[in-house]
Amino acid sequence: MRWPHKHILDIDQFSLSEIRHIFSTAEKFWEVNSRQVKKVPVLKGKSVVLFFAEPSTRTKISFDMAGKRLSADTFSLSSSSSSLTKGESLGDTALTLRAMNPDAIVLRHSQSGAAQYLSSILDISVINAGDGWHAHPTQALLDAFTLSRRWNGFKDKKILYVGDIAHSRVARSGISIFSRLGAEVRVCAPRTLLPYSPSALPAALYSDLESACSGVDAIVCLRMQLERQTSGLFPGLREYAANFRLNREHLELAAPKALVLHPGPMNRGVEIDSELADSGESVILDQVASGVAVRMALLYILLAGSKPEGTL
Ligand code: CP
Repeated sequence: MRWPHKHILDIDQFSLSEIRHIFSTAEKFWEVNSRQVKKVPVLKGKSVVLFFAEPSTRTKISFDMAGKRLSADTFSLSSSSSSLTKGESLGDTALTLRAMNPDAIVLRHSQSGAAQYLSSILDISVINAGDGWHAHPTQALLDAFTLSRRWNGFKDKKILYVGDIAHSRVARSGISIFSRLGAEVRVCAPRTLLPYSPSALPAALYSDLESACSGVDAIVCLRMQLERQTSGLFPGLREYAANFRLNREHLELAAPKALVLHPGPMNRGVEIDSELADSGESVILDQVASGVAVRMALLYILLAGSKPEGTL
């Protein structure tokens, strides 16, 4: 397909056919990742800068691995090891990196809109790897890809997000993709961690976990985003866990064969019981594997240009 996007900033920029194209491309790279030699030469000569101004394990390593498996050169920069610590601005850092002539910059940043800002000053592709409370589009794509490999479509499926909805870029992007794919989305949290307005998200709001779990096909547990909260939103992690930690009894209220997801990093015993995290219903490590395939697909689609899609 002709790809119209230079940047990946938010999940809402994609049409449904573009999301399906990403998934079908990711499926090809899933196969590449199962080979003995997990490398194809499709991005030879391309370079990708991974600029992570916030901590990350999964997103950073999977973009790095994705680039390398496509034969691109990848270069990593973190805020603590960069000249941001000496007072250089985000814009000047980005222009400095651009002067080295990479083909794309993958950015994680604590400020909502940081990736959008970079895309406005750079003439190369910018990929949003998570910006503040705003968006985490590649997480939404990999979560939906994970479920799409298990399910025959999203129509009639019910997906529940449990946790810190108010501060979660994962929830914001995930709710958007799943509702657009045709699923019914619910969110459950203490009232102080839900949106003020019931119409703020295309999702039904719950603050009772038992009712929220009733009949759902997948439950996505979210980490409490303590780094983004002002104080006083709930009494403490112990009280939170007593009311919102997902356990086996909750899963038994869900639909038969319901799946459990978590974008990570996970706080076992706070938002999810350890037993459930390691259970047969958990697809948490599948999400990680999907992350590599989906990010390979995105780098390939953005950077391979007119190279043939048939054989990889
Ligand atoms: N899901 C996610 O973004 O994890 P990391 O913070 O480890 O990248």
